[in-house]
Amino acid sequence: MRTTQPFEFTFSVAPRRRGNALLSGVLWIAALLLFVVPYLRDRDSIGSYEGDFTRDVKADDDKDKIDLPFSTDVADYEAQHGKGLAEAIAKGSEEFFGLESAWLRDSGSVEPLRIPSGKLNYEIHCVGCHGAIGDGAGPAARHLNPRPRNFRLGKFKFTSTDASSRPQRRDLFQTITRGLAGSAMPEFRLVNEEKRWDLVEYVRWLSMKGEFEQMMLDQAWEEEEIPNAKELADIVVHRWHPSNLRPIFPGVNETPNDAASVERGRALFTDVAKGSCFSCHGKEGRGDGPTAGDYEDDWGYPIRPRDLSAGTFRAGAESVDLYRTIAAGIKGTPMGSFAGALTSEETWDLVHFIQSLSHKR
Ligand code: HEC
Ligand code: HEC
Repeated sequence: MRTTQPFEFTFSVAPRRRGNALLSGVLWIAALLLFVVPYLRDRDSIGSYEGDFTRDVKADDDKDKIDLPFSTDVADYEAQHGKGLAEAIAKGSEEFFGLESAWLRDSGSVEPLRIPSGKLNYEIHCVGCHGAIGDGAGPAARHLNPRPRNFRLGKFKFTSTDASSRPQRRDLFQTITRGLAGSAMPEFRLVNEEKRWDLVEYVRWLSMKGEFEQMMLDQAWEEEEIPNAKELADIVVHRWHPSNLRPIFPGVNETPNDAASVERGRALFTDVAKGSCFSCHGKEGRGDGPTAGDYEDDWGYPIRPRDLSAGTFRAGAESVDLYRTIAAGIKGTPMGSFAGALTSEETWDLVHFIQSLSHKR
């Protein structure tokens, strides 16, 4: 099974047809139009981004996404509603999420002792992609698809928790340890284990602080007045408190991975009453279902259902990894949690079916 293949799409070059210069010319132009022109257009628009990517806005008559820097958005608010928001955000952020904040320490949502080493290691290993404030807009970001995660929405894709929970520490630890296959996110096994836990804590802290600042801004726009910082800070640390993370565990041990289970899995995969995996992933799991082209993720970028036959699974290809992915869903993407729709036995059947797709290749 290939688990670290860098890109998921494959394409075949048309066989060279001797003596048919016209056809080959047409093919080249078509290839140019297909691959190069969209890239240039893409690069152009992405190249003009500046600053951070925390907020996207949809122009009414223009479906293209623009990422508006946080500071610009704050400035826009102040231009319309008067000064004060930027100061309130900075003050609240310092008071509640500053590295010295006693309030944060007492909240029990972060381990402050890990933060300094986390920060140092983040600056060494992560900042180039995820950006200094964790907005996913590091200098390398514009070249990457999928984009490095913007931590400031508080959303993480690969978790072992139910749909409304933030990730557990060990989910982030696992991501950092083994990377995300098929994306630019590297593995950091060589960074010693304690430092990886420090990084986990720093990512959580960046995420909470970012979430708080973004909520201040969003609520200000909504209610047209400066929100109460303490109230929003309370909501954020509450969400992240370990006692509020509801984990999803396999209800039964793995059932036998045999032909019968694979066939049951295949039937479930195309069953409209059971989550209709095929509507996104296609009947053969190639990522080409009827609605495959319709989606974007919560960060504002287009997203496609995975080609499951490629055998590249970001959150791991072991049975228990796939079980967790199906049960917990992939947060921030169209793929929701199936914990309620499928029994444990059914989930294992789907796991076996998915594994059979890539084994066949
Ligand atoms: C070369 C670029 C790159 C570097 C360096 C990098 N990342 Fe990432 N990271 C990514 C990309 C790209 C994604 C998004 C993958 C996706 O959406 O599937 C990501 C996603 C993540 C996620 C989100 C996982 C989830 O469940 O949503 C975390 C957490 C993370 N990275 C932490 C780190 C940490 C910590 C470091 C440094 C030790 C780091 N990354 C270094 C590119 C990078
Ligand atoms: C509404 C669309 C949708 C439906 C329905 C859906 N998925 Fe997905 N699925 C996605 C998208 C989009 C991704 C890619 C997410 C990403 O790249 O971060 C994905 C990714 C996956 C992955 C890859 C996980 C990894 O670690 O990389 C698996 C496995 C998967 N889906 C299985 C299923 C199964 C099984 C079902 C049915 C129970 C299902 N999906 C239903 C949209 C969907």
